Amino acid sequence: MSSPSTASPAESASTASTVITNIATLVTNDPSLGDRSPLGLIQSAAVVIEGDRVVWTGEESKAPATDNRVDAGGRAVLPGFVDSHSHLLFAGDRTEEFNARMSGRSYSAGGIRTTVAATRAASDADLERTLTRHLDEALRQGTTTMETKSGYGLTVEDEARALRIAARHTDEVTYLGAHVVAPEHTEDPAAYVSLVTGEMLDACAPYARWIDVFCERGAFDGDQARAVLTAGRARGLHPRVHANQLSHGPGVQLAVELDAASADHCTHLTDADVDALAHGRTVATLLPGAEFSTRAPWPDARRLLDAGVTVALSTDCNPGSSFTSSVPFCIALAVRDMGMTPDEAVWSATAGGAAALRRTDVGRVAPGAYADLALLDAPSHVHLAYRPGVPLVRGVWRRGVRVV
Ligand code: NIG
Ligand code: FE
Repeated sequence: MSSPSTASPAESASTASTVITNIATLVTNDPSLGDRSPLGLIQSAAVVIEGDRVVWTGEESKAPATDNRVDAGGRAVLPGFVDSHSHLLFAGDRTEEFNARMSGRSYSAGGIRTTVAATRAASDADLERTLTRHLDEALRQGTTTMETKSGYGLTVEDEARALRIAARHTDEVTYLGAHVVAPEHTEDPAAYVSLVTGEMLDACAPYARWIDVFCERGAFDGDQARAVLTAGRARGLHPRVHANQLSHGPGVQLAVELDAASADHCTHLTDADVDALAHGRTVATLLPGAEFSTRAPWPDARRLLDAGVTVALSTDCNPGSSFTSSVPFCIALAVRDMGMTPDEAVWSATAGGAAALRRTDVGRVAPGAYADLALLDAPSHVHLAYRPGVPLVRGVWRRGVRVV
């Protein structure tokens, strides 16, 4: 099976056209289609794929003639999930830390250094195997686009090799040298910021699209975060920020000021933070797997949505704070505990993720978009929240090819 963001030569899309018929509910995320809601829902629908793209969507009775036909069996089809936040370049395991948390210990950014030690000791082949294992795991659960980051190397060589490996498997690669201050530099964080914005950036920029910083007490303050993001921007990387995860801080305001594509976590927000997000282009990416696994308060999605903020939902898959690759699990949490409706959560996990990556070619099922689709063993997308923990994804197309 291929990884969510790469097509292997064996599975390149054919140019023959294929219609998927007998779709009970199709989520297009195109409000000009179907019921004109944000999800653009079409009942009794069909989708036509040609090559790697969607070329037609609409009511089944109006579908054009095609070379091939697939019967969806009265099930739901939606865009493949766009998971815009993960940390998959890691080695080792933090079961003990998780166990301790579930016995009452609290989460701290310091646990990241455990994974740093294991990651540095791992071979390139080990890192790549772990990455592809989790990309495949995500693909089987409907994720067809997945961002991932460095951040567990924290030396020039270890950060660059993580990104080099990541870039073989996804276009959405983020340089996170500023995850925490590297263990060698704890006495002199300024020297580490100079490294991250200098030699390390030079080595990493060729493999990355994005630059990220963990702006948090115990990681990097607002001034350090600004220095990291502006240096990355000067090298052609676009900012995204780990912001306001564990406490209130300047991360969200900085993200909006620098026009970051996304402010991620957004668990502790002031009214001014919500207002800034509502008036900027920066998407608020919520990562409920982290609150689940750290027993932290849930981010208030309702407050953000009611203020008009664009919200994305992603997994934050990493071995410390959120070891899940399951977007359906995050949808269920967001609906149960964060005030989202099922429609909003599904939108955020597809179109919202695409917005957080500033993409218009994924996250929707409409002519011109990549044919990245998830077929559910259920009549509607609502079942993703209604039937939590049930493996509902029965089929996945990526770039026009059925991969699951
Ligand atoms: O997004 N917040 C910082 N980084 C990760 C946690 C990484 C870890 O604990 O290893 C996060 O939650
Ligand atoms: Fe993260």
